[in-house]
Parts: sequence; structure tokens; C-alpha cells
Amino acid sequence: MEFCLEQVCADNELGSLLRALEGEYILPGPGGDPIRNPDVLPTGKNMHALDPQSIPTAAAVKSAKIVVDRLLARQMQENGGQYPETIAVVLWGTDNIKTYGESLAQVMWMVGVKPVPDALGRVNKLELIPLEELGRPRVDVVINCSGVFRDLFINQMNLLDKAVKMAAEAEEPEEMNFVRKHALKQAEELGVNLRQAATRVFSNASGSYAANVNLAVENSTWEDESELQEMYLKRKSFAFNSDNPGMMEDNRKVFESALKTADATFQNLDSSEISLTDVSHYFDSDPTKIVATLRDDGKKPSSYIADTTTANAQVRSLSETVRLDARTKMLNPKWYEGMLSHGYEGVRELSKRLVNTMGWSATAGAVDNWVYEDVNETFIKDEQMQQRLLNLNPHSFRKMVTTLLEVNGRGYWETSESNLDRLRELYQQVEDRIEGIE
Ligand code: BEZ
Ligand code: MG
Repeated sequence: MEFCLEQVCADNELGSLLRALEGEYILPGPGGDPIRNPDVLPTGKNMHALDPQSIPTAAAVKSAKIVVDRLLARQMQENGGQYPETIAVVLWGTDNIKTYGESLAQVMWMVGVKPVPDALGRVNKLELIPLEELGRPRVDVVINCSGVFRDLFINQMNLLDKAVKMAAEAEEPEEMNFVRKHALKQAEELGVNLRQAATRVFSNASGSYAANVNLAVENSTWEDESELQEMYLKRKSFAFNSDNPGMMEDNRKVFESALKTADATFQNLDSSEISLTDVSHYFDSDPTKIVATLRDDGKKPSSYIADTTTANAQVRSLSETVRLDARTKMLNPKWYEGMLSHGYEGVRELSKRLVNTMGWSATAGAVDNWVYEDVNETFIKDEQMQQRLLNLNPHSFRKMVTTLLEVNGRGYWETSESNLDRLRELYQQVEDRIEGIE
């Protein structure tokens, strides 16, 4: 612990920067999560990520199994003992750097394929795990890769595509191999061959990033949820194909036909640095309501978030995780007082977090009414707090007021008329303040 503390406190940033500007040698070292890998400290090194071929590591494979097994157990417990036929998974680049490929390994374990490292630890080969050893059906996947993942890990996209195609081609009973079951059906319906139908690795077109759902939500530039869903489908439907590598090909038909079979959506939280409402990219990545729209029965899929920030990995539902985020940050006096001690910027943090919370209502319906109600109680109804926020940063306070009115207007928050009247009055007041009328 003492060693770690020394590394945390070591102050090499400016010294190294100056030496780098002088053209001197800077010691290289890995970047990443200091909790998972204390060797990333001290900072002020010539930081690098990892050799993409080295992941998933054996340790990542081991952790991945635990998370997927817990995810499957929870899904079965809540769905009458049924395995999910398909899980829509989000893969991020930074996560796979920090975890040495845990989410990559999770997908392989879902479809029942094992990465096989060579003598130098490079992972370029796969083996199908026999059903007897797997002990359950192969679960189908829809892999939603971020643009950053695509840029960093194109070889791993190749591996994942091969893994899925390997599973689809395994001549096993359909009730024990959902990848094959779905791919055979898609092949028939779409008039393509089995390997083309077994396309599951999607991302943006080359050079493009994100669904931009976050920008629409941040700027309130949307009328209907269907517009957000259309943005996602349009931007994230580019497929990697190991039979024709080198380009991301628009394949929205297969993307939609795979997504509509999803019983669950899933993404990882791998470090305590950022969580679901810290940044807008998490809700931007989430396809929960899209799946509900696409599914024949219109049913909302279960949504799960793995918390692997500690050694004891947890799988929680998305709404549990949003709740936990709200309780520990936005609604936690220790958190918001800490933020407000920064003055102007603290109010901006609060308003940003409220918008990110609204994003989870828009893309997944994952925010309980009480979260907005408590935000209103804490920051609006409390006169002293309300005046404090208004004085510290009238622009961000106005954004909080308009966001609360927006979540009500969009049907994400039911509250009393008197609460809404107060918000409308406050909006007028803060407008006057900003325009210098008062
Ligand atoms: C990623 O690491 O894949 C990522 C980073 C920032 C925003 C979204 C995704
Ligand atoms: Mg560098």
C-alpha cells in the first residue's frame, strides 16, 4: 500500500513533459487502470496501450466466464429458466485495453469458442468448445463495437466473426446452438448463405464514430424516440466480414434481423473512473429500446451491466445500475457538495449528469420516477440550494430546469402540477437573470 501511495503521489508529469520537449528519452510504460494494474503508475511515462494480439489474456478469459455465467444465471432466474437466445453486447476499445480483453472473451464464451494463444501468447486461433464441455446451448450475439474498438482491434473483430461463423457451421441441434438456429433462418429469409447470415460483428462505417444519439439528447434535437433509434441503426450497421476483410460493409438487414432476436442487452463497467451517467457514450451505445421495437412481440429485452471494478464481479440490471449511480453521485450530498465546491463548473457537472440520466430514459426506459423527483426535491424545491445553483452558474441551472421540464414533457417523469409550475416560474426568473433584466 505504501509503495502504491508513493506511486500515486509521484509527480513526474511536468518534468517528463519538459524532457520530452527537449527531445530526451522518456521511459515507456503501460497506461490503463491503476487498480487493475499498479504498474501504470507513476504517470509521466511515454504511455502505451498493449499489443492487440495479446488479448484476451488467460486471466481475462477466466474473469469473462464468471461474468457470463452470472449473467446467464440471472437471466434464467428471471425468465422461467430459459437461456437467452441472443445477447446484444457493446464492446469498447478502452475497456478492452484496461481489462486485457475481458469483454472480447465474454463474447467468445457466450458462443462457446475458446481463444488459443501461440507460443508467444498471440491470439490468432480459435477452437470450438464441444457442447458436452460447454454444458449449455451456444448463445447468439450481436456485437456492437465502438468506432474506437474498430480502430484498435480490427484483428479481434476478425476473430469474433470467425468465432460466430464457426458456431453457426457446427452441425448441432438448433435448441443447443442458437447461433446456428438464427443463421439458418436468416439465410432462408434473406436469401444469403449461412456464413453471410452469421454476421454479428458491427460498428460504424470507417472513419465514423458513435450513434450520435448522445448529441441529439444533449441538444434536445429530436421529437420521437424512433428518430434516435433510426440514427443508431443507420450509423452502427456496418459489418466486419472475415471472408471479405478490409472494409466495413453496410448490412442493416442482417443487423436488424439479428437484433430482433435479442433477449438481453449487455455492457461492462470495468473501472471506477467512469460510470453510466458520467459520460453520454454509455447510453449512446445502448440498443435496449431498439430491440423492443424490432422484436416481433415488442417485448423490452432484459438489460444488464457487469460491474468488474472490483475483484468480485457483479452483474446488475441496467435500472439497478442507473439507480446506484444516482444514489452515489447526483443525489449524494458528499458528491454534489464536492462538485459545488468547484463553483461554476460543479453546477455544469450536475446539469450534464441530469442530461445523461435522461438519456437512459430515452434509450432504455431505465430511470425510475423517484430519481427525477429526488433531483427536483434536492436542487429545485430547496430554496437555498436553488439560489446557490442560480448564483454559481445561471446557464447550467437553466439547463437543469429545462431538462426537468423536458423529462416531464417526454413522459419520463410524472410529478405534481405545482412542481411543474415552480419550474416554469424558475425558467422565467433565470432567463431574466441571464438577460440582465433583474
Ligand atoms: C471506446 O473506448 O471504445 C470509447 C471511448 C469513448 C467513447 C466511446 C467509446
Ligand atoms: Mg506514446
